[in-house]
Amino acid sequence: MKEHLMKIVFVGDVVGKTAFIHRYVSGQFSLTTDATVGAAFREKTLQWSEKETVRLQIWDISSRVRFDSMTMIFYKGALGCVVMFDVTNSSSFLRCQDWKRDLDSKATLPSGAPIPCILLANMCDLPERVVTADSIAEFSKNNGFFAWMETSVRDNRNVDEAMRRLVQEILSVQPSEDQLLSSQEDSVDLQSHDATKRQSCC
Ligand SMILES: *[C@@H]1O[C@H](CO)[C@@H](O)[C@H](O)[C@H]1NC(C)=O
Repeated sequence: MKEHLMKIVFVGDVVGKTAFIHRYVSGQFSLTTDATVGAAFREKTLQWSEKETVRLQIWDISSRVRFDSMTMIFYKGALGCVVMFDVTNSSSFLRCQDWKRDLDSKATLPSGAPIPCILLANMCDLPERVVTADSIAEFSKNNGFFAWMETSVRDNRNVDEAMRRLVQEILSVQPSEDQLLSSQEDSVDLQSHDATKRQSCC
């Protein structure tokens, strides 16, 4: 059995990130608010194929983290990224560009290629939607996202699908990147961390 280890960072100015990750990891919906200070991570292991498992280390980056050297530390070793916004909040949509630029300017894959990023339009179950699908599609294309999807944590819509799509992209972009990561001396030693260990910065 081969295990792929993947660090994924979750960014965006939304309260829904933490609930999304919770839903994905535990299969439950909870109305947790984004009380994350700095970053927290959770883990989930997927049986990817008969011979492969994928161990995801999902970093929930607080929207209160400023774009200074802190984000650079949190991005280190990431092989994939989720940029999330709230379709009922146009300013959270506009901020996605800042998050994407911050990521691209500070982090790349070990090969030097940009980190695969998926754009998630969350809270699509709500009627107060203000961001249209056309504008999301155009923004996604113009800003280097490999895909975008509408998601709803409440309705459990596209939660697993979006993560699966991202893992698939990571594996297809650089099949051996994750092995490279686990062989780096300075990579995070997962054995010594609790699944929900928090790291504070601000
Ligand atoms: C909308 O997004 C901005 C950040 O881009 C945030 O500061 C604001 O609190 C959000 N508003 C609501 C109602 O969630």
